[in-house]
Amino acid sequence: MTSASQQTDVKLIEAASAVRERAYAPYSGFKVGAALRCDDGQVHVGCNVENAAYPEGICAEGGAIAAMVAAGGRKIVEIVVCGGGSGPCTPCGGCRQKLREFGAPGMRVYMTDPAGQVLLVKTLSELLPDSFGPESLD
Ligand code: THU
Repeated sequence: MTSASQQTDVKLIEAASAVRERAYAPYSGFKVGAALRCDDGQVHVGCNVENAAYPEGICAEGGAIAAMVAAGGRKIVEIVVCGGGSGPCTPCGGCRQKLREFGAPGMRVYMTDPAGQVLLVKTLSELLPDSFGPESLD
């Protein structure tokens, strides 16, 4: 159940569900899709891409971020992460830090199921409190 203020664009949710279908996850069998909206309005997507050398696999969020940066984007407004497990697919620790690089503390992370149901909504600062970011280097 989500309040009106927690609702995101249905197109972003659908994009995350659609790209999840293209995930390459033969080892875990756990497909993930991510769709983010950049501050220029563009939507970028990514899916997990696993590897026989297990640590070389990449997460859906990382793929979407890479696509955004390659397109010239630098700021994430919101992101949808679509998993297929029994509960919400919460971003892994590494992905939280990657999101931190390009998202404001209040950036919303929507976690959905393949049918497009929003299971959980968190802000970036809730997922990664007291975080280290670009300004920490100043
Ligand atoms: N995975 C993601 O793509 N994003 C996350 O935030 C959590 C985990 C992927 C990595 C791996 O391919 C599979 O899910 C199982 O861990």
